[in-house]
Amino acid sequence: MTYAAPAPDAAATRLLFIGDVVGRAGRKAIMERLPELRRRWALDFIVVNGENAAGGFGITEAICDEILEAGADCVTTGNHVFDQREAMVFIERQPRLLRPVNYPPGTPGRGANLYTAANGRQVLVVNVMGRVFMDAMDDPFAAIEREVGACPLGMACDALIVDIHAETSSEKMAMGHFVDGRASLVVGTHTHVPTADGQILPQGTAYMTDAGMTGDYDSVIGMDKEEPLRRFTRKTPGARLEPAQGEATLCGVAVELDAAGLALRMAPVRLGGRLAQSAPFFWEQESASARTLEASGAPQR
Ligand SMILES: [Fe+2]
Ligand SMILES: [Fe+2]
Repeated sequence: MTYAAPAPDAAATRLLFIGDVVGRAGRKAIMERLPELRRRWALDFIVVNGENAAGGFGITEAICDEILEAGADCVTTGNHVFDQREAMVFIERQPRLLRPVNYPPGTPGRGANLYTAANGRQVLVVNVMGRVFMDAMDDPFAAIEREVGACPLGMACDALIVDIHAETSSEKMAMGHFVDGRASLVVGTHTHVPTADGQILPQGTAYMTDAGMTGDYDSVIGMDKEEPLRRFTRKTPGARLEPAQGEATLCGVAVELDAAGLALRMAPVRLGGRLAQSAPFFWEQESASARTLEASGAPQR
């Protein structure tokens, strides 16, 4: 009897997007889990939102390097991008770090960039910020139209990922529909709570309103809960906000794309920590049967 290990479809591209990494607990989850996930799920491209990676506020060059070394191909951000002032300098020499594309002209860094995935595919990542209940920014829809028009999926790139960093679910959902069929994945960040609406939109774009944070969920959106609670109950100045230090849940979304760069399957990812666990069963089954074959010494492709 001959065995054939289920190999990933040669034309498929496997993406993992991980939501806002908060503080040391979030970084620990990235360092401990990302290298293994990359192998186990045969990932081609990984995006990590790192806007809260440095003590909950912003990102340093050393931390950005750490996340990239753990296996991320691109680090996106949001409104906290420049909380650590050094980001205004090192973002210029780090093409794998993005800030929202609709910041005013002249802002350091870039909001979109094209990368080569492990399978050789060209992946455009665009980071954009919403405007509802957030700082005034240029129109995110016009900005996305410009970026998608400049590098169309299936022509100038093989996969197109939009990180929409926004407060309201309506603005994020509208963005998903705005580029349905023109993007591989539209995923929300910033609100730090994973949503249960992960789906493939009618024209083939994978969509999820919030990837969720990668941080300790025994907290108030990743921060030690005492000070936020005090701020809600007493209107007096208090202590600094500090990230909660318990075990983080690594949160995000896993997507498999077809040769045209549209989504074939997607699943929420929640690993470790306090949240109900979730993993892409379609890849888990494949890696489990590959491991069984490995153990049996059967020939593999
Ligand atoms: Fe955040
Ligand atoms: Fe944010």
